[in-house]
Order: sequence, then C-alpha cells, then structure tokens
Amino acid sequence: MNIVETFDLTKIYQTGMKKGNVVALDGVSLGVEHGEIFGLLGPNGAGKTTMVKSLLGITRVSSGEALINGLPPSDPRSRDRVGFLPENHRFPNHLTGMGLLEFTGRLYGMKPQDIRTRAESLLRLVDMDKWGGTKIRKYSKGMSQRIGLAQAMICDPDLIFLDEPTDGVDPVGKIEIRETLKRIKSEGKTIFLNSHLLSEVEAVADRVTILLKGKVVKTGSVESLTTRKSQYDIDADIGNERFVIPEEIGKRITITTKSLRVELNDPKFINRVIDELRLRNINIRAVQPVTMTLEQSFFEAVRSDSGEAS
Ligand SMILES: Nc1ncnc2c1ncn2[C@@H]1O[C@H](COP(=O)(O)OP(=O)(O)OP(=O)(O)O)[C@@H](O)[C@H]1O
Ligand SMILES: [Mg+2]
Repeated sequence: MNIVETFDLTKIYQTGMKKGNVVALDGVSLGVEHGEIFGLLGPNGAGKTTMVKSLLGITRVSSGEALINGLPPSDPRSRDRVGFLPENHRFPNHLTGMGLLEFTGRLYGMKPQDIRTRAESLLRLVDMDKWGGTKIRKYSKGMSQRIGLAQAMICDPDLIFLDEPTDGVDPVGKIEIRETLKRIKSEGKTIFLNSHLLSEVEAVADRVTILLKGKVVKTGSVESLTTRKSQYDIDADIGNERFVIPEEIGKRITITTKSLRVELNDPKFINRVIDELRLRNINIRAVQPVTMTLEQSFFEAVRSDSGEAS
C-alpha cells in the first residue's frame, strides 16, 4: 500500500458570486511510495498547496478521496506520524532554534527529556547544531528553513510534507537543504515535496507528478520524464559517410563527422543501427539515450496539453 494516495481528488473553492468558483484540484489521482522523495511540481496556482492541505485535513475536499496510510483526513490517526513545513511560515522570532523544537515537541505532547534528546539529534541532522542557542531572528532564510525541517520531524514522523522548502533561499542554502533532504530520506522517511523549482526537484526526487491548473499533466520517475526513450546520441567516427536509417527502423535527426542522433520506432532498433555502423567499419565511441531536463519535459507536457504539437 502506498503511504499517500489520492483518487480523483477535486477541490473547488467557493469565492462568492462575483469572482466565481476556483477549481484548484480537478480529479487528481496520485500515489507516494514508502521511503521515496516525491515531488509535486507545477507553476504558481497549480494546486500544490491545496493538495497538501487536503491530505492533512486543513481544507475539505469537494469530491474524491485522499488517504494517508489508508486513512482519510477525517480520521486524526492519519496524522499521527506526519510532519509538516508549511509554505511562507513565520516561526516566533524571539525563540532560539532549540526553543522552537521544544515548543513544537510540547505541542505534540512529548516528554521534556525525549524532546531534548530528539532536538539535539535533529539539529545535527539539519546541520544546525552550532545554532540551536541562537534566536531565529538572526537566522538566514536557509537556516530558518533548515530549523523548519527539524521542527517538522520532532515527532519522528514517517512522512514529511514540505511546501516550497527552498523558496527565497540562496543557491548555497538550496544545496544545503537538498543534502539535508537526502539525509532525511536515508533515515527511511518519506518526503512529499511541493515545489515550482523543477531543476531542484530533479536533483533530489525519485518520482514526480506535474500539476497544471489542478490537473496532472505528467507523472513518473524523474528518469522516465527526462529520457527521450526512442532517441539516441551516437559518438562515432562517421566522417563523410552518408549514413541512412531504413524507414522501418526510424529516422536520422542530426549527423556530423563525429556524431549521429537518431529517433527509433522502437528502442530495441538501436542494435540494428549499431550493426549498420559496424558493417561500415565505423568506430563507435559511445551510445547514450538523449536526455532532457525536467523543465523541458514540463514544457513539452504543457504544450501538448494545450493542443500544440510537441
Ligand atoms: N482559500 C482560497 N480561496 C479561494 N481560492 C484559493 C484559496 N486557496 C487557493 N486558491 C486558489 O486555488 C488555486 C490553487 O492554489 P494553490 O495555493 O493550491 O497553488 P500552488 O500550486 O500552491 O501555488 P504556489 O506555487 O503559488 O504556492 C489558485 O488559483 C489559488 O488562487
Ligand atoms: Mg503553494
């Protein structure tokens, strides 16, 4: 069973007669596997925060089903082992990092001595052990987000929802957060990561779902979304050889004296292309699938969604 599951989830915000209703989620079905970093991606207003709020029972869905560990948001046990770092959060500035963790631990009803031990190990996990005694108002944005990750983990959750954890953080801070997320994952936690920063999610997520105007436009492993399955780049000493690909195999996209890019009707035809090259005594240095960034994949999905040819 997936740790998070939604079926045909729809959320319509009633905004009053004049403005009309907003369809924030429009029949979204997705699943998050245990122990993975799952990225929910999409531009501003796509419905990412609404999805997290729906799963946590902060907002009530209009139709469909949202489940955490098989339980609906109406059952408080669904949130027993769940942590949350909201978007645009503001922690009390007068608290120290340790103070925030102690405060959050008390909210969860933890024993003071348990909170202290847990907080110390979390400060190490998020690389903030030197800053636990410093007031939050002195923290950089990146440090504030890292202490936010720690507070989301105080109750030792299995599943952590992070809504735009790197928003407003500088490039070095972003890398630090990325490394922290990898460490959290290595502890066996599942991370549900909302972001509009595709390149960042690409660097940490195992699988992603791309939302656009409340609808799923693409879903799958990062690898599957960034690999053009039927295209290959071949580094080979082609020279001036006029290399033609038989139509039933596929087509040639580009050719230079040292390389060839092909698009095949079936990935297995790559062997036929290699045979053809070898027959002509062409030296092959490398064969690799053509990849693209998640951003390119996203734009392709958006274009085909709006009816344009990709
Ligand atoms: N409480 C609300 N009342 C009315 N409309 C809302 C409310 N909350 C969100 N919306 C609308 O629902 C849509 C989805 O918003 P949501 O905040 O879920 O998007 P998002 O993907 O998290 O965007 P961002 O990247 O800006 O955080 C938007 O059109 C937004 O304006
Ligand atoms: Mg949001």
